[in-house]
Amino acid sequence: MTAGAEPQGERLQKVLARAGLGSRRVCEELVADGRVTVNGAVAVLGQRVDPRADAVTVDGVPVPIAPDLVYYLLNKPAGVVSTAADPEGRPTVVDLVPGEPRVFSVGRLDYDTEGLLILTNDGELAHRLAHPSHGVTKEYLAEVDGAVGAGALRRLRDGVELTDGRTAPATVGQPAPGVLRIVLHEGRNRQVRRMCEAVGHPVRRLVRTRIGTVADPSLRPGAWRPLEGGEVRALYAASSTPAPGAGRRGSGRGPSRPARGGR
Ligand code: URA
Repeated sequence: MTAGAEPQGERLQKVLARAGLGSRRVCEELVADGRVTVNGAVAVLGQRVDPRADAVTVDGVPVPIAPDLVYYLLNKPAGVVSTAADPEGRPTVVDLVPGEPRVFSVGRLDYDTEGLLILTNDGELAHRLAHPSHGVTKEYLAEVDGAVGAGALRRLRDGVELTDGRTAPATVGQPAPGVLRIVLHEGRNRQVRRMCEAVGHPVRRLVRTRIGTVADPSLRPGAWRPLEGGEVRALYAASSTPAPGAGRRGSGRGPSRPARGGR
Protein backbone atom coordinates (compact mmCIF):
# COMPACT_ATOMS: atom_id res chain seq x y z
CA MET A 1 0.00 0.00 0.00
CA THR A 2 1.34 3.46 -0.86
CA ALA A 3 1.63 5.95 1.98
CA GLY A 4 -1.68 7.69 2.64
CA ALA A 5 -3.76 5.25 0.55
CA GLU A 6 -7.06 4.07 2.09
CA PRO A 7 -6.73 0.51 3.42
CA GLN A 8 -8.79 -1.96 1.39
CA GLY A 9 -11.54 -4.13 2.84
CA GLU A 10 -12.97 -4.31 6.35
CA ARG A 11 -11.30 -5.40 9.54
CA LEU A 12 -11.81 -9.11 10.08
CA GLN A 13 -12.98 -8.74 13.68
CA LYS A 14 -15.65 -6.25 12.59
CA VAL A 15 -16.91 -8.62 9.90
CA LEU A 16 -16.96 -11.54 12.35
CA ALA A 17 -18.82 -9.48 14.94
CA ARG A 18 -21.43 -8.50 12.32
CA ALA A 19 -21.86 -12.20 11.51
CA GLY A 20 -22.82 -12.72 15.16
CA LEU A 21 -19.68 -14.33 16.55
CA GLY A 22 -19.52 -11.98 19.53
CA SER A 23 -18.12 -8.55 20.34
CA ARG A 24 -15.16 -7.24 18.35
CA ARG A 25 -13.00 -8.04 21.37
CA VAL A 26 -14.19 -11.66 21.39
CA CYS A 27 -13.60 -11.85 17.63
CA GLU A 28 -10.09 -10.49 18.02
CA GLU A 29 -9.41 -13.30 20.46
CA LEU A 30 -10.71 -15.86 17.96
CA VAL A 31 -8.22 -14.49 15.44
CA ALA A 32 -5.38 -14.32 17.99
CA ASP A 33 -6.07 -17.94 18.99
CA GLY A 34 -5.60 -19.06 15.39
CA ARG A 35 -9.21 -20.26 15.08
CA VAL A 36 -10.02 -18.15 12.02
CA THR A 37 -8.96 -18.72 8.42
CA VAL A 38 -9.33 -16.46 5.38
CA ASN A 39 -9.23 -18.20 2.02
CA GLY A 40 -7.69 -21.24 3.69
CA ALA A 41 -4.84 -19.45 5.52
CA VAL A 42 -4.83 -18.83 9.26
CA ALA A 43 -5.83 -15.20 9.81
CA VAL A 44 -3.71 -12.66 11.66
CA LEU A 45 -4.73 -9.77 13.90
CA GLY A 46 -5.40 -6.59 11.96
CA GLN A 47 -6.17 -8.46 8.74
CA ARG A 48 -8.70 -6.93 6.37
CA VAL A 49 -11.11 -8.89 4.22
CA ASP A 50 -13.42 -8.29 1.31
CA PRO A 51 -16.79 -9.61 2.58
CA ARG A 52 -18.04 -10.10 -0.98
CA ALA A 53 -15.11 -12.21 -2.10
CA ASP A 54 -13.23 -13.79 0.79
CA ALA A 55 -14.05 -17.14 2.41
CA VAL A 56 -13.82 -17.17 6.20
CA THR A 57 -14.00 -20.10 8.62
CA VAL A 58 -14.02 -20.27 12.41
CA ASP A 59 -12.99 -23.61 13.91
CA GLY A 60 -13.18 -25.08 10.42
CA VAL A 61 -16.82 -24.07 9.88
CA PRO A 62 -17.60 -21.57 7.09
CA VAL A 63 -18.98 -18.22 8.27
CA PRO A 64 -21.13 -16.47 5.67
CA ILE A 65 -19.95 -12.83 5.60
CA ALA A 66 -21.37 -11.45 2.35
CA PRO A 67 -23.45 -8.41 3.33
CA ASP A 68 -26.44 -9.19 1.11
CA LEU A 69 -27.20 -12.67 2.45
CA VAL A 70 -30.57 -13.10 4.15
CA TYR A 71 -32.05 -16.06 6.03
CA TYR A 72 -35.71 -16.38 6.94
CA LEU A 73 -37.40 -19.00 9.08
CA LEU A 74 -40.99 -19.41 7.90
CA ASN A 75 -43.77 -21.40 9.51
CA LYS A 76 -45.38 -22.63 6.31
CA PRO A 77 -49.13 -23.06 6.53
CA ALA A 78 -50.92 -25.87 4.70
CA GLY A 79 -52.18 -24.90 1.25
CA VAL A 80 -49.01 -23.15 0.08
CA VAL A 81 -46.43 -24.50 -2.39
CA SER A 82 -42.68 -24.40 -1.68
CA THR A 83 -41.63 -23.55 -5.22
CA ALA A 84 -41.06 -19.93 -6.34
CA ALA A 85 -43.90 -20.08 -8.85
CA ASP A 86 -46.82 -22.44 -9.31
CA PRO A 87 -48.28 -23.22 -12.74
CA GLU A 88 -51.68 -23.63 -11.06
CA GLY A 89 -51.43 -20.16 -9.51
CA ARG A 90 -51.53 -21.41 -5.92
CA PRO A 91 -49.90 -19.25 -3.20
CA THR A 92 -46.19 -19.85 -2.74
CA VAL A 93 -43.85 -19.54 0.23
CA VAL A 94 -41.98 -16.66 -1.41
CA ASP A 95 -45.24 -14.66 -1.27
CA LEU A 96 -45.00 -14.88 2.54
CA VAL A 97 -41.54 -13.28 2.97
CA PRO A 98 -39.98 -10.00 1.73
CA GLY A 99 -39.62 -9.85 -2.06
CA GLU A 100 -36.13 -8.30 -2.08
CA PRO A 101 -33.55 -9.70 -2.12
CA ARG A 102 -35.05 -12.68 -3.88
CA VAL A 103 -34.84 -15.90 -1.91
CA PHE A 104 -35.61 -19.55 -2.49
CA SER A 105 -36.72 -22.28 -0.12
CA VAL A 106 -34.20 -24.76 1.21
CA GLY A 107 -35.77 -28.07 0.31
CA ARG A 108 -39.51 -28.42 0.13
CA LEU A 109 -42.55 -29.20 2.18
CA ASP A 110 -45.59 -30.71 0.50
CA TYR A 111 -48.53 -28.45 -0.31
CA ASP A 112 -50.42 -29.87 2.69
CA THR A 113 -47.45 -30.01 5.08
CA GLU A 114 -47.01 -27.28 7.68
CA GLY A 115 -44.05 -26.11 9.67
CA LEU A 116 -40.55 -24.81 9.46
CA LEU A 117 -38.93 -23.90 6.17
CA ILE A 118 -35.79 -21.84 5.61
CA LEU A 119 -35.70 -19.34 2.77
CA THR A 120 -32.41 -17.74 1.79
CA ASN A 121 -30.27 -16.43 -1.04
CA ASP A 122 -27.25 -18.36 0.32
CA GLY A 123 -26.80 -21.17 -2.20
CA GLU A 124 -24.00 -22.77 -0.18
CA LEU A 125 -26.17 -23.24 2.91
CA ALA A 126 -29.06 -24.44 0.76
CA HIS A 127 -26.85 -27.07 -0.79
CA ARG A 128 -25.51 -28.23 2.56
CA LEU A 129 -28.94 -28.52 4.16
CA ALA A 130 -30.52 -30.27 1.23
CA HIS A 131 -27.89 -32.96 0.96
CA PRO A 132 -28.35 -36.01 3.20
CA SER A 133 -24.60 -36.65 3.36
CA HIS A 134 -24.29 -33.56 5.58
CA GLY A 135 -26.33 -35.04 8.40
CA VAL A 136 -28.73 -32.22 9.29
CA THR A 137 -31.70 -33.87 10.96
CA LYS A 138 -35.30 -32.81 10.49
CA GLU A 139 -38.06 -33.48 12.99
CA TYR A 140 -41.73 -33.95 12.13
CA LEU A 141 -44.91 -34.40 14.10
CA ALA A 142 -47.31 -36.64 12.20
CA GLU A 143 -50.91 -37.22 13.16
CA VAL A 144 -51.79 -40.59 11.70
CA ASP A 145 -54.76 -42.89 11.42
CA GLY A 146 -54.98 -45.05 14.55
CA ALA A 147 -52.56 -45.75 17.40
CA VAL A 148 -49.30 -47.21 16.08
CA GLY A 149 -48.31 -50.60 17.47
CA ALA A 150 -44.84 -51.73 18.52
CA GLY A 151 -44.20 -53.65 15.29
CA ALA A 152 -44.99 -50.68 13.06
CA LEU A 153 -42.91 -48.38 15.24
CA ARG A 154 -39.97 -50.77 14.94
CA ARG A 155 -40.30 -50.85 11.16
CA LEU A 156 -40.38 -47.04 10.99
CA ARG A 157 -37.24 -46.92 13.13
CA ASP A 158 -35.30 -49.66 11.37
CA GLY A 159 -36.21 -48.74 7.80
CA VAL A 160 -39.22 -49.15 5.57
CA GLU A 161 -39.05 -50.55 2.04
CA LEU A 162 -40.29 -47.83 -0.35
CA THR A 163 -40.35 -47.78 -4.14
CA ASP A 164 -37.08 -45.81 -4.15
CA GLY A 165 -35.34 -48.07 -1.64
CA ARG A 166 -35.23 -48.74 2.08
CA THR A 167 -35.32 -45.73 4.39
CA ALA A 168 -32.37 -45.09 6.69
CA PRO A 169 -32.75 -45.69 10.44
CA ALA A 170 -34.89 -42.97 12.01
CA THR A 171 -35.77 -41.88 15.54
CA VAL A 172 -39.49 -42.42 16.07
CA GLY A 173 -41.58 -41.89 19.19
CA GLN A 174 -45.31 -41.81 19.88
CA PRO A 175 -45.94 -39.02 22.41
CA ALA A 176 -49.69 -39.68 22.22
CA PRO A 177 -51.67 -42.45 20.51
CA GLY A 178 -51.73 -41.70 16.78
CA VAL A 179 -49.16 -38.89 17.06
CA LEU A 180 -45.63 -39.68 15.89
CA ARG A 181 -42.47 -37.65 16.40
CA ILE A 182 -40.14 -38.66 13.59
CA VAL A 183 -36.53 -37.51 13.17
CA LEU A 184 -35.03 -38.15 9.73
CA HIS A 185 -31.52 -37.78 8.32
CA GLU A 186 -32.87 -38.05 4.79
CA GLY A 187 -35.25 -35.87 2.82
CA ARG A 188 -36.87 -37.92 0.13
CA ASN A 189 -39.99 -36.78 -1.64
CA ARG A 190 -43.05 -37.25 0.64
CA GLN A 191 -40.94 -39.48 2.84
CA VAL A 192 -42.87 -39.26 6.10
CA ARG A 193 -46.20 -39.74 4.36
CA ARG A 194 -44.92 -42.74 2.41
CA MET A 195 -43.28 -44.32 5.47
CA CYS A 196 -46.43 -44.03 7.56
CA GLU A 197 -48.61 -45.27 4.72
CA ALA A 198 -46.28 -48.26 4.26
CA VAL A 199 -46.84 -49.37 7.85
CA GLY A 200 -50.62 -48.94 7.61
CA HIS A 201 -51.06 -45.54 9.26
CA PRO A 202 -51.72 -42.82 6.67
CA VAL A 203 -50.82 -39.29 7.72
CA ARG A 204 -53.71 -36.90 8.42
CA ARG A 205 -51.59 -33.90 9.36
CA LEU A 206 -47.85 -33.30 9.09
CA VAL A 207 -45.82 -30.51 10.72
CA ARG A 208 -42.05 -29.99 10.52
CA THR A 209 -40.94 -28.85 13.96
CA ARG A 210 -37.13 -28.68 13.69
CA ILE A 211 -34.36 -28.28 11.11
CA GLY A 212 -31.01 -29.19 12.66
CA THR A 213 -31.01 -27.19 15.89
CA VAL A 214 -33.48 -24.59 14.63
CA ALA A 215 -36.95 -24.75 16.18
CA ASP A 216 -39.47 -22.07 17.13
CA PRO A 217 -42.77 -23.14 18.69
CA SER A 218 -43.80 -19.47 19.03
CA LEU A 219 -43.73 -18.77 15.28
CA ARG A 220 -47.37 -18.85 14.16
CA PRO A 221 -48.41 -20.37 10.80
CA GLY A 222 -47.72 -17.93 7.96
CA ALA A 223 -45.23 -15.90 10.05
CA TRP A 224 -41.50 -15.61 9.45
CA ARG A 225 -38.50 -14.17 11.27
CA PRO A 226 -34.85 -13.71 10.35
CA LEU A 227 -32.56 -16.51 11.49
CA GLU A 228 -30.11 -15.29 14.13
CA GLY A 229 -26.38 -15.36 13.36
CA GLY A 230 -25.93 -18.18 15.86
CA GLU A 231 -28.65 -20.23 14.17
CA VAL A 232 -27.03 -19.81 10.77
CA ARG A 233 -23.68 -20.82 12.23
CA ALA A 234 -25.22 -23.84 13.93
CA LEU A 235 -26.69 -24.94 10.59
CA TYR A 236 -23.30 -24.56 8.92
CA ALA A 237 -21.68 -26.48 11.78
CA ALA A 238 -24.27 -29.28 11.71
CA SER A 239 -23.87 -29.58 7.96
CA SER A 240 -20.09 -29.80 8.31
CA THR A 241 -20.45 -33.15 10.08
CA PRO A 242 -21.01 -36.14 7.80
CA ALA A 243 -24.22 -38.04 8.54
CA PRO A 244 -23.80 -41.40 10.27
CA GLY A 245 -23.21 -43.88 7.47
CA ALA A 246 -22.76 -41.15 4.83
CA GLY A 247 -20.61 -42.46 2.02
CA ARG A 248 -21.51 -46.04 2.91
CA ARG A 249 -25.12 -45.84 1.81
CA GLY A 250 -24.07 -44.17 -1.42
CA SER A 251 -27.68 -43.30 -2.12
CA GLY A 252 -26.80 -40.47 -4.52
CA ARG A 253 -30.36 -39.31 -3.92
CA GLY A 254 -29.53 -35.79 -2.85
CA PRO A 255 -30.74 -32.90 -4.93
CA SER A 256 -28.24 -31.29 -7.24
CA ARG A 257 -26.33 -28.29 -6.01
CA PRO A 258 -28.04 -24.99 -6.71
CA ALA A 259 -25.97 -22.18 -8.20
CA ARG A 260 -24.66 -19.79 -5.55
CA GLY A 261 -27.41 -17.27 -4.99
CA GLY A 262 -29.62 -19.08 -7.49
CA ARG A 263 -33.11 -20.38 -6.92
N1 URA B 1 -42.20 -35.78 4.48
C1 URA B 1 -43.36 -35.69 3.81
O1 URA B 1 -44.01 -36.69 3.56
N2 URA B 1 -43.79 -34.48 3.41
C2 URA B 1 -43.11 -33.34 3.68
O2 URA B 1 -43.56 -32.25 3.30
C3 URA B 1 -41.90 -33.45 4.38
C4 URA B 1 -41.46 -34.68 4.78
